[in-house]
Amino acid sequence: MGACRIQYVLLLSLLGFCPCSDTLTCQMGSMVRLGSDLTRNEVEWIELKTVETSGEEICQEIFLLIDVGTTALILGSKGPSIPSHRNVRNITVFARGPGLKAIIFYHICDIELCNRANSTRMLIDSIPSVAPTVRGRQPCPICLHFKGICNSYTNLAICPRGTRCYKSDLALHGGGISAIFSISGCLVYPQKFLMKNQSSVGTISLLETLLMPKSKSPSHELVPSILLTCMFGLLALCLQRSVLSAEPIS
Ligand SMILES: *[C@@H]1O[C@H](CO)[C@@H](O)[C@H](O)[C@H]1NC(C)=O
Ligand SMILES: *[C@@H]1O[C@H](CO)[C@@H](O)[C@H](O)[C@H]1NC(C)=O
Ligand SMILES: *[C@@H]1O[C@H](CO)[C@@H](O)[C@H](O)[C@H]1NC(C)=O
Repeated sequence: MGACRIQYVLLLSLLGFCPCSDTLTCQMGSMVRLGSDLTRNEVEWIELKTVETSGEEICQEIFLLIDVGTTALILGSKGPSIPSHRNVRNITVFARGPGLKAIIFYHICDIELCNRANSTRMLIDSIPSVAPTVRGRQPCPICLHFKGICNSYTNLAICPRGTRCYKSDLALHGGGISAIFSISGCLVYPQKFLMKNQSSVGTISLLETLLMPKSKSPSHELVPSILLTCMFGLLALCLQRSVLSAEPIS
């Protein structure tokens, strides 16, 4: 490779062969799973497809786990990459819970078929354990799915204390993946971005678009209707409603 002098290569290729093979074989493929047990049971992924890389390219593999509590997303990508580092293997926890969790495993390497992680075990093993959560008071929509599907299925849950409602579209492109996911859940305070503004991992670009729920407090919503009822002189109803509105949401 580097030691291979150009004249030498030219000479040898004129003779019909090249002693310095500049290619590298990597596994190549992608996968996406959505499910309720992906944070407990590992997903096996045996990728048989390979690709010959050339030049500066080396092998890459990336696994992403996002968990909203009721559902989790696993995304995997393997293939060639042109990285700034030759050998990196790291796991980054972007959100540690309670509530939303996000973890990325990133591995680049330059040895034949070195991107051969065959399950999501390493992600599951690096899910941080959080102290038993205290139930908070804020109800938030909880959903994780391909964009466009969440609205019809979204259910509300009471978030753990120390979190607040989070809602976004997360677009991922590159490395054989092209998808947009809708994510809503409870994100630990004061974190605002699930992926902490990271714009890419290896050859995959990330774009997180926050879709913030209107931060109306329940009391504001009730005030107009209470006033209206009172103006119409329905005093009994008015009192009843005021009492109701003073009750905590649980
Ligand atoms: C992994 O390490 C690389 C290089 O040090 C760094 O740029 C990256 O942010 C780390 N995490 C991920 C998820 O890529
Ligand atoms: C998966 O990888 C592990 C560790 O690299 C290895 O021990 C195991 O045999 C592999 N499983 C399969 C089915 O290839
Ligand atoms: C994240 O990105 C947003 C918009 O691009 C920017 O306003 C914000 O300051 C960034 N936050 C951090 C911590 O970099």
